[in-house]
Amino acid sequence: RSCDEASSDVAPCKYPSSSPSPLKTQPSLYQSSFPFYRLPSEVGFFSLDEKRCYHADGRRLRYYRPPEEGKKDGDSLGWELMEGFEDHYVRMNEDEKEGLLHILTWIKENKGIIKGSGHGESKRPVDRDFVTWRGHLTKMLCTPYETQEGWLLAVTLFRGTLYISERETEAAHKKRKGRTVDQEKLMYSGYKFESFLCAYTPNSDPCPSEVVNTNEAFCSVLLGRLASHSLLLSGEVDCTDASAANPSPPSCYVELKTSAQIRNPHQQRSFNRYKLLKWWCQSFLLGIPLIVAGFRNPQGRIVSLQNYRTADIPHLVRGDNQSWDPAVCMNFCNAFLSHIKKVATRDDPRVVYVFSWEPGSDITFTIESNPSDPVLPDWYVQALSQ
Ligand code: A3P
Ligand code: MG
Ligand code: MG
Repeated sequence: RSCDEASSDVAPCKYPSSSPSPLKTQPSLYQSSFPFYRLPSEVGFFSLDEKRCYHADGRRLRYYRPPEEGKKDGDSLGWELMEGFEDHYVRMNEDEKEGLLHILTWIKENKGIIKGSGHGESKRPVDRDFVTWRGHLTKMLCTPYETQEGWLLAVTLFRGTLYISERETEAAHKKRKGRTVDQEKLMYSGYKFESFLCAYTPNSDPCPSEVVNTNEAFCSVLLGRLASHSLLLSGEVDCTDASAANPSPPSCYVELKTSAQIRNPHQQRSFNRYKLLKWWCQSFLLGIPLIVAGFRNPQGRIVSLQNYRTADIPHLVRGDNQSWDPAVCMNFCNAFLSHIKKVATRDDPRVVYVFSWEPGSDITFTIESNPSDPVLPDWYVQALSQ
């Protein structure tokens, strides 16, 4: 469903004097020292199969199988990322909005691992302040530097835990429906790249002729902390490196990325400013230490591979004109999570706080009671009410 369908019983917030004022997003307001962020620890995982069905196991975790040293140049690789687009591509149905579905399924099946045991707040059935997808936090982290795309985040407080989901904005909906074939091909190419570097067992070879099916995913579930905020995060993981120096997740996980070949200083600046920002935010949040990037030429052929240590990326962009600062991203996220705690105070699974942001504006919110698009489905509320 699109975001512009009316929800039932919507009550726009009129900002009574007691309610927090809209949150500002300008980078200059968040330029202070880096806040406390604990390396997340994995508490579980799940897989989504070719039909997008949930499995409580790691069947879709793939193994990182890079080419041998000396065979990483474009001529030796010869990887054609557009191959198979017409006839070896199964696309996930993006009209079906899953929201937090798979995370909630994992929580329901693993209640014992995360339930509080004490009194008061620690008696919560999910002993975390926030539950969300890593991708939603990535959007938050990038907000101070984002100039193009706004977002809508829907939040519900239920039994002491804030659940953060996303709603598609009207602009994002239009953009998705109006994608050109070239844009579709570019999306495909990001997944196709993975098939050249990943295998289903630690010692087998990648099988790039297989069908690319974007329903499939392996997702890690992790507990993390940003300053005073405890988090339960889940994020899709591209592959694991069986020979990583630190074999325990998330340190063994590897993120794969593609980008256009860089041919002049202008393209380098733009890569540092936009791509490295997103790549760093995405991988830093889960504690993924390595990003393997493939650079493609205009014909969609990989011309080089480059490893980036996530921890090195802030140093690579420091000193750039119009650079970004990781501390700003994290301080802003910390402030926004605090803001959510101040705003979303009614502990009720039928109440949704919708936070809305457009570039150049402050973050505002509305409150919906009994919306047609709740953050938490009834089955989850029932399962966690017992
Ligand atoms: P690239 O990131 O190499 O372009 P991820 O890198 O996050 O694992 O995602 C895998 C691929 O999914 C991406 O590869 C890209 O092709 C596609 N993808 C992910 N998020 C997208 C988005 N917001 N818009 C378009 N394509 C996206
Ligand atoms: Mg991925
Ligand atoms: Mg990737």
